[in-house]
Amino acid sequence: MNVGSRRALFGAAVIGAVCLWGAALGASQAAPAAPAQTAGVPMSEQVFKNIQMLRGIPVDTFFDAMGMFANAMGNDCTFCHVSKAYFDKAMFAEQTPRMQRARGMIAMMNTINKQYFAGQPRVTCYTCHAGSQSPRSDPDFMTQYGTPIEDPNIRDFPTDRRIVADQVFDKYFQALGGVDRLAKFTSFTGKGTYAGFDTSFDKVPVEVYGQAPGKTSMVVHLEIGASTKTYDGTNAWLAGPDTPMPLMTLTEGNLDRFRLEGMVAFPSAALKQAFAQWRGGRTAIDDKEVIVLQGSADGQPVANLYFDESGLLVRLIRWTRTPVGFVPTEIDYSNFRDVSGVKVPFNRRVRQTYMEMTLELSDVQANTRIDASRFAKPAPVQGPGSAAVAK
Ligand code: HEC
Ligand code: HEC
Repeated sequence: MNVGSRRALFGAAVIGAVCLWGAALGASQAAPAAPAQTAGVPMSEQVFKNIQMLRGIPVDTFFDAMGMFANAMGNDCTFCHVSKAYFDKAMFAEQTPRMQRARGMIAMMNTINKQYFAGQPRVTCYTCHAGSQSPRSDPDFMTQYGTPIEDPNIRDFPTDRRIVADQVFDKYFQALGGVDRLAKFTSFTGKGTYAGFDTSFDKVPVEVYGQAPGKTSMVVHLEIGASTKTYDGTNAWLAGPDTPMPLMTLTEGNLDRFRLEGMVAFPSAALKQAFAQWRGGRTAIDDKEVIVLQGSADGQPVANLYFDESGLLVRLIRWTRTPVGFVPTEIDYSNFRDVSGVKVPFNRRVRQTYMEMTLELSDVQANTRIDASRFAKPAPVQGPGSAAVAK
């Protein structure tokens, strides 16, 4: 199967995956104590019907885990789930032999990590499968004698001590127009197009809004209705006919991604303070040299920031912790254009293990007055199919 068709299939399954889940919320059970950030957020077993292993995690984390499965298998969601799940997401609950096999694999993985790696998620589905349903067990000459392929997204790159994080950030602020101009850039409104799995990569209209120091909102006009992603500076929500629940609250790594994106929308010294420690390294993205800064703080998954030769931030990766290992979200920024003396990335591509989207802005206005309600918690949106499973 080539990558293109695999991606399309994967996308279809996610589109199929929309809308019906919110209605299952009534059947709630007692969830294990959740970390503060996830307090009050419904857990996987409260929202879904057939959860035996991945209990006590928020729905956004659950999707990262499912994305890890699809990615590790090198296939789409219906490698394990029935193909009817493309069109009717309630069918994701339908039991299959591969789901049962995957549950056994979770148990095996947990045993290995507990017994040999002090409970750290060192061995994951990806460690063995690496994009194949049948992990290879014999040595391979390509790896030994072939041209090595360097993945810029690795978490454990070698540290280059000559890279000083402060200098990288200062060069970045300079490349964007300088701290004085950045300080005067306090809000923006933009228009353009959105394309993603949920539109089968057709372009649909999108609006974006931002308010310093880091509030953001995006409204995607899908054929089935408007879908909103909002970050109010503390909390982030998704609400739309395409989201798995009428109102989905983001948690942990997924929430922190919005915090970082807000800081990138209004770059300031706060970005330097986003993590307690930074370490630097060198790698390449699309054959172009980049500097990578990795932020870390006690007990948190790391984040990687990539700066090109001119100093601009071209990639941001935030990992989120799931019961089956760390799972990345990658955001690429490109097509920087001048808006009131500040360089703004007009294009953005977001990749997750269960979705991909691109944003192409055509018009961005700086320092517009934006109503505060734009960044408030959005109203829940029932998907077109949600009535079908309502109790
Ligand atoms: C390697 C097999 C595998 C792949 C690939 C996979 N899943 Fe799953 N999925 C499972 C297993 C196993 C469960 C049950 C988890 C449990 O028991 O805790 C599950 C459960 C689910 C559920 C909960 C259904 C319910 O109501 O109980 C949803 C929704 C779901 N998967 C969506 C997806 C999506 C979307 C994808 C693709 C991004 C995907 N899955 C890929 C194995 C898989
Ligand atoms: C320690 C290595 C290892 C780990 C970790 C691992 N697997 Fe496997 N897995 C295997 C091997 C080996 C097979 C058998 C492949 C074969 O039959 O060719 C397998 C088979 C499977 C199959 C059946 C594939 C088929 O062809 O039907 C599924 C589904 C699966 N694994 C899912 C997972 C998931 C999900 C995880 C993570 C929770 C995982 N595995 C973690 C080694 C591993």
